[in-house]
Amino acid sequence: MRVFALSDIHMDYNGNVLWLEKLSSIDYTDDVLILAGDISEDLEKLRRVLSFLRNKFAHVFFVPGNHDLWVRRGECIDSIAKFWRVLDLCTSLGVQTQPTKVGEAVWIIPLFSWYVKPEEGSDSLFTPKEGDDPTLKMWSDDYFTKWMALEENTTVAAFFLRMNEKHLGKHYDAPIITFSHFLPRRDLIFSTQTEATGMTVRDPNPSFNFSRVAGCAGLEEQIRRLGSSVHVYGHQHRNRHRLIDSVLYVSHCLGYPRERERGQIRGLGDGPKMIWDSAMQEKS
Ligand SMILES: [Fe+2]
Ligand SMILES: [Fe+2]
Repeated sequence: MRVFALSDIHMDYNGNVLWLEKLSSIDYTDDVLILAGDISEDLEKLRRVLSFLRNKFAHVFFVPGNHDLWVRRGECIDSIAKFWRVLDLCTSLGVQTQPTKVGEAVWIIPLFSWYVKPEEGSDSLFTPKEGDDPTLKMWSDDYFTKWMALEENTTVAAFFLRMNEKHLGKHYDAPIITFSHFLPRRDLIFSTQTEATGMTVRDPNPSFNFSRVAGCAGLEEQIRRLGSSVHVYGHQHRNRHRLIDSVLYVSHCLGYPRERERGQIRGLGDGPKMIWDSAMQEKS
């Protein structure tokens, strides 16, 4: 049994649908797929893609990303209602959204999350960027998500992190792989020199500072409390494979076709990335 990582497949793009349709129907039948969010805001598309992947893999794990919780079509009263609807959909399809031990070898623990904006608290991954627009007027989540059911004085990030709390104090009798949609650490936002080698991309959005909406440090705290060996995440559409203080952080995003054309998404290959092989009992 092997564990594979993939995220941000954004099924609203034809190029992405074609990429996904090419996945083998025989190569992964004993394997696990971790799908770290951002499939589609369209629940019917989400249902179709999750069933498609359930037919290819022995297990599929999923956490919703920000795009999956958009409610501009009026299908749910707010993004919290949509979150529960997406989780119900996963249950009906046999897609895992709760901690589960697979192949008697490894625990997969989904971590729900959101980002903390700089004005929301010190858990934000914010890093100043000269000339950025602090109002984030180009950031679609501010128009397409709603949080009516959120208690006063609670951030969206705190709401989701609280859901993970019940998993933190338990004993897990095998190595742990965690995953989230959002980033757990500020340093993962930025390419290392090696990752940036040969990359000649100029900043396509100089006024957009991604770190305002990247993730939250509370996630990292949960990853460490769990004693995770590997953490898979998505959201930024920048692929990473980095060992930091004994945790391997992996992001393997399909992203947008234009990002692949510009060379911003690298090392994608033609399928999900293997991050664990039970025959070797270790991360790879
Ligand atoms: Fe995405
Ligand atoms: Fe995202």
